[in-house]
This record gives sequence, C-alpha cells and structure tokens, in this order.
Amino acid sequence: MRQHRAPLVAALAAHLARAPGRLHMPAHKGGRWVDDEFGRLFHEHAWELDLTELPGLDDLHWPTGPLREAQDLAREAFGAEETLFLVNGSTSGLLALILATCGPGDTLVLARNCHRAAFAGLVLSGASPAWIRVEVDVRLGIAVGVTPEALATVLEAHPEARAALVVSPTYQGFASDLTSLATVCHARGVPLLVDEAHGPHFSFHPALPLPALRAGADACVQSLHKAGGSLTGTALLHLQGKLLDRDRVRLMASLVQTTSPSFPLLASLDAARRRLATCGREDLDRTLALATITRRRLCELGYHCPGEEYTFPGVAGVDLTRLLVHVGDRGVTGYRAERHLRASGVQVEYSDPVNFLALASPGDDPAWLQSLLHGLCTLPPGTARPIDLGSLWTLPHVALSPAEAVRLPRKRIPLRRAPGQVAAELVCPYPPGVPVLVPGEVIPAELPSALEALAAVGGRFQGRDPVKEGLDVLALPPGA
Ligand SMILES: Cc1ncc(COP(=O)(O)O)c(C=O)c1O
Repeated sequence: MRQHRAPLVAALAAHLARAPGRLHMPAHKGGRWVDDEFGRLFHEHAWELDLTELPGLDDLHWPTGPLREAQDLAREAFGAEETLFLVNGSTSGLLALILATCGPGDTLVLARNCHRAAFAGLVLSGASPAWIRVEVDVRLGIAVGVTPEALATVLEAHPEARAALVVSPTYQGFASDLTSLATVCHARGVPLLVDEAHGPHFSFHPALPLPALRAGADACVQSLHKAGGSLTGTALLHLQGKLLDRDRVRLMASLVQTTSPSFPLLASLDAARRRLATCGREDLDRTLALATITRRRLCELGYHCPGEEYTFPGVAGVDLTRLLVHVGDRGVTGYRAERHLRASGVQVEYSDPVNFLALASPGDDPAWLQSLLHGLCTLPPGTARPIDLGSLWTLPHVALSPAEAVRLPRKRIPLRRAPGQVAAELVCPYPPGVPVLVPGEVIPAELPSALEALAAVGGRFQGRDPVKEGLDVLALPPGA
C-alpha cells in the first residue's frame, strides 16, 4: 500500500544507520556541541518541548518575557544594540532588512555573490539591484570577496541607493574588509548590511575574522545553526547605529516569519548563545587546533587548502574552521572527491568543480578528520581539466527589476539562443545557492558555454536544468 510509505522518514533513518562522519552543517554535529541543560532536555523530551505560546512562555511577535530576556542576552553576547531571534534562517533576516530599507523602484547595492535569499528580497521589495563586482580566485573558481573600491564605484554611480548588502564571510570562509566597507558606506550615509550567515562564531575567538558589528556594520544576519550550535533553521538578526529604522526592521522580521514558531528552535538559540558566551573561547580553541593539524596534513599530502597565509584582493581574513580543499590540481572534480569521501565514511559540506568544503566545529569527533585524511590518501588522481567559470561573474546589464521581470509573460527557449534576451527566471547552481543570472538581466553571450561546462563536470542547479531544458526569457522586449 502506497500510503504506508513515509519516504522522508525512511531516508532519515537510512542516513542515521550509515552514520557518516559529520564534516557539514549544522555545527552542533548531532548534538555533540551543545549547552548542557538544553542538550539534556532536548534529548529526553523532544516531543513534550514542542509547545506554543502558553502562559510563561513568550510570543516571537511581541516578546515581553523569557524570549525578550533571551534576545537581550544575545544582544549583549554579540555586541549588538538590538537582536532578534529568527526561526526561518538568515533568509528571513535578509528579507526583513531588504524590505525595511527598500521599496518598489528603490536601489539596493549588493555584491554579485549574494545568496538567493537576497534575490527573494529584491522580488518582494520591488527594488532594483546595483551589483558590486566580486573578486574571483580563478584557481579556486569561486568569488572570495568585494573591495572597498568596487563598493565605492557602485555607490558613486547610484547616489540614490538605500542600502548596501555584502556577504562576509563567504560560504567557503573568506571575510572581506568590513571596516573599510562600512567607512565607504557611512561616508555617503548608506547603511551597510552584512550577510554573516556563516560567521556567528567570529565574536567568540580572536583568531577568527573581525565580526561585522565590531567592524561597524549597521546590521548583520547570522545563521547560528550553520556555525554556532543551534538547531537548523534558526538565526539572529543584529542591529546597531542610527541609519536603520528599527521599528520597520522589527515589523518586517515579524511579517516574514511564521506565527507558530517552534519553541525548541527558539530555545536552541538561547542555549547556543549561552554555550558560546561561556565556553566559546575554549571550544573554538580545540576546533582551531584540530583544523590546523588537519590543514597541515592536507598540505603535506599536496592539497591546496587556504589558511592564514591566504591573501587575495577583497579578502581580509579566513575562517580557519573551514577546510576548503582544492582537488582540481589532481585532475579530480570536487564532486568526485565528495563521493569518494562518502564511500570512505565521511560526509563533507559541499563540493564544486575543483574543490570540496569540510566544516570543523567543537562537536567534531577527531576520527572524522582522520577519515577525511585517509579518504584523500586513497583518492585516485583523474584527468579532469580545470574549467574557467570566471565569466559567470560578469556583471550583466539590468533591463528590469526582478519584481517586474518575474511577473511578465515568458517563453522557454534553448540556452544557446538566450544571449541578448531578458531573463525571466533565476539560474542558481546549487550548492552554493548563489545565482548567476537574475530575472530582468540581459543574458550575456558567455553564459551558455559557462553553464554547459559546469553541467558537464557534474554541476547541478536549484530548479530546472537550463542546459537540458532551456531558459525562460521575457516573451516581449521590455516596454513593448
Ligand atoms: C551566504 C548565505 N546567506 C544566507 C543563507 C541563508 O541562510 P539560512 O539557510 O539560515 O536561511 C545561506 C545559506 O546557505 C548562505 O550561504
């Protein structure tokens, strides 16, 4: 009987049975890095804790009791002036910030390597993007940051900009010079918003890059689940300074979140904050030591694994808990390395045409990092040639705002015929979830061959595969 099946439940059970080493998110690593009290409660009473806004608990949308105090403690621990708890990830924090700063027709300056959540903010707000050029490390094939000069150029060209949004650190752990970016923004009275989804732990160890708030950002969002120890889907939105209308940010954060927030999720934010604030330094000392030994061994094995020596324009620091391992030099794709490691009993976070990324956290069993090293010792060299995906980062001409483009009639055409047409859909290689084409943009001539090259080595897309199935473009030219 078909209805006796529960495929997702079965898939989770099968994954647990395989029990691969967890060199991926969430950072609590299966409850191994957790606040003692919450760890015990959650372990023993997961079902009973699933509660709603009962007396004595609180209301996410108007906190006056324990949630308000928990947010206040987080504000203190992270050095913010105000902190909001989020149960729909950094995604909801980014939406709140974009909706609070931009309305229809407004300009948002943003880095081209922003996550797809920023694109959602553009569609919902009706704002137009003014893109900041990103610095691309061609060997690694990834965007690593933005320079203050690139930001200044866009702000000069767009004095009407309502806000500037950058990602720092990147998914792979590269942090930009946020102090200089904040100075550039503030000289023009523009708030700097930082997608710090991958950097919630930075406040708790001096060897990690400077946190956005300390660098002078007006707001940042942090996925505490990714690197801070809370449950998946939870995040923090921090605010400071006078450039943002805080009432409006609070309103937008409330509008984009469920009215039935999970209390275990909210409590996991409180618990992760306590753990970070009271033991974060020692916890991260251990993690950094383990990651450093592993990085050294990787280098001895001949792998390029950027660490503190890494310098590149737009990069001011590296999160040393992230092990980005370049395998392209061995003629192997990151995808193949990831599969090989999975077969060796360890699951990494992400892979791309030439790299994979392993995440270390205080929850790690050192045996997982040993498995990673052993797995790499048996990875056979291949014959894959590095592909140049630099053209994916070319800044296209914006013909229409994303909000306008997604509402106009569209037609599907083969990818090869798309250059010169206006995109009606998002093209987003996944992971890492950074769009390379946004609705409303004129499709550049180089895009088809770059996407074909990506797909040929095993790259996947979130959504329809444009290489196999074509691309949606506007049925009529803009203004027709
Ligand atoms: C850079 C970046 N920003 C934002 C997000 C969205 O975060 P969340 O999954 O917490 O909604 C992600 C998710 O991967 C991300 O990589």
